[in-house]
Amino acid sequence: MRLSVIGCGYLGAVHAACMAKLGHDVVGIDVDSAKVASLGAGEPPFFEPGLAELLTEALESGRLQFSTDIADAAGSAVHFIAVGTPQKRTENGADLSHVAASVDALLPHLREGDVVVGKSTVPVGTARGLSTRITEACPSVTLAWNPEFLREGYAIKDTLEPDRLVYGLDDANSGAQLILDEVYAQALADGRPRLVMDYETAELVKVSANAFLATKISFINAMAEVCEATGADVSLLADAIGHDDRIGRRFLNAGLGFGGGCLPKDIRAFMARAGELGADQALTFLREVDSINMRRRSRMVDLAREVCGGSLLGQRIAVLGLAFKPNSDDVRDSPALSVAAQLQLQGAAVTAIDPQAVPNAARRFPDLAYATSVQEAVQNADAVLVLTEWEEYRTLNPEDLAGLVARPAIVDGRNCLDATAWRDAGWTYRALGRPKAAAGSAAAAAADARLIGEARPRVAAEPRA
Ligand code: UDX
Repeated sequence: MRLSVIGCGYLGAVHAACMAKLGHDVVGIDVDSAKVASLGAGEPPFFEPGLAELLTEALESGRLQFSTDIADAAGSAVHFIAVGTPQKRTENGADLSHVAASVDALLPHLREGDVVVGKSTVPVGTARGLSTRITEACPSVTLAWNPEFLREGYAIKDTLEPDRLVYGLDDANSGAQLILDEVYAQALADGRPRLVMDYETAELVKVSANAFLATKISFINAMAEVCEATGADVSLLADAIGHDDRIGRRFLNAGLGFGGGCLPKDIRAFMARAGELGADQALTFLREVDSINMRRRSRMVDLAREVCGGSLLGQRIAVLGLAFKPNSDDVRDSPALSVAAQLQLQGAAVTAIDPQAVPNAARRFPDLAYATSVQEAVQNADAVLVLTEWEEYRTLNPEDLAGLVARPAIVDGRNCLDATAWRDAGWTYRALGRPKAAAGSAAAAAADARLIGEARPRVAAEPRA
């Protein structure tokens, strides 16, 4: 089939490449000429594992092109709308201007029988309004709403092997259903569930899925707060409750909380929309979900201050991880970057590193110092903070690092390190939602006791040979 994908960000670029991989002829369209040039050269403008290879393969097959000219969408049977719906600058609601602009721009190029397919995350009610607009201009064109559930870092797999396909259709839209079935023939042949529903339900499926995931994370982070107040261990708690199939262990990792381009803005837009609909009471709990999440960032700063002996002023802090999660270079609403910036603002001297996100972080916070290796970042540090659980940070050797720092204190913002291994190597190990030292561990207690205000003199912190 000939398909166009309007909007080539995380969602659209991956969708376009995956659709070409499935054998469709695809044109990806974006107003950003730099983005179009880089995608057309097989170079993703963001980090996503496997995407460069997939783009190259699709471009070489001749089935994928990119353009800044919306007129190139003409002749495609299906037009995916995959533009961003960021949070408005001054309020919680979603900014739909890109969706409206892309549909307006597309209208003159639509042909009889075309199907427009919305993939962007939008407030409930948007699709019905757009459908009216489209059918007024082009009566034979129909709109379907087909939300996307891809996770950054796994975007290709999630697109090619979705755990479900959701079609939001108007009553009169059965033709659109057949066309979508053709687009997704491979996934359907693989037995992926396909759920057909009205526009409103399809729009709500997406935002309620994200609201549920955010709630699950904030639930365990609320438990972390209680654990901190009682000396209990939230990681053990999560393992134990996660064995109950009804609860499940996934998305129950306590730590710095959620960030990124989706969960934070989607729950806020959802609350804003519920308010407009007079159903705000139904979602007031999401405000608490948001607050719990943001409190984790402040708690992390407090923990860093604590291991630095009560003040951040002049303390050298190494921050490992800036992306909002591993396998991504995305720093939008990143808890890690937010903590790094707060530490710096409170007087610490922060040196940060991330395997992929440094360029994006440096654009947002040019005042932080950025290192090119973990060894450089931790050199003479008074505290080391792991804020994004990249594999290479999870597997760091505590003995190797101990000789580089001024004070062997590590704060694990993602509960991703082996506490015993770090403590056994002489480090003070602290984490969100976990006790200061394992009960009965003399070495750990000694390391913790040694810590506060007892930085080794910096001259002693020569790197080990
Ligand atoms: C999310 C949804 O998962 C996806 O279905 C939707 O399409 C887009 O939004 P994404 O933003 O890529 O995807 O990230 P996700 O993997 O959901 O993680 C979101 C945030 O939650 C990250 O900051 C992550 O570190 C955090 N998180 C996740 C936790 O703090 N604990 C967990 O247990 C899981």
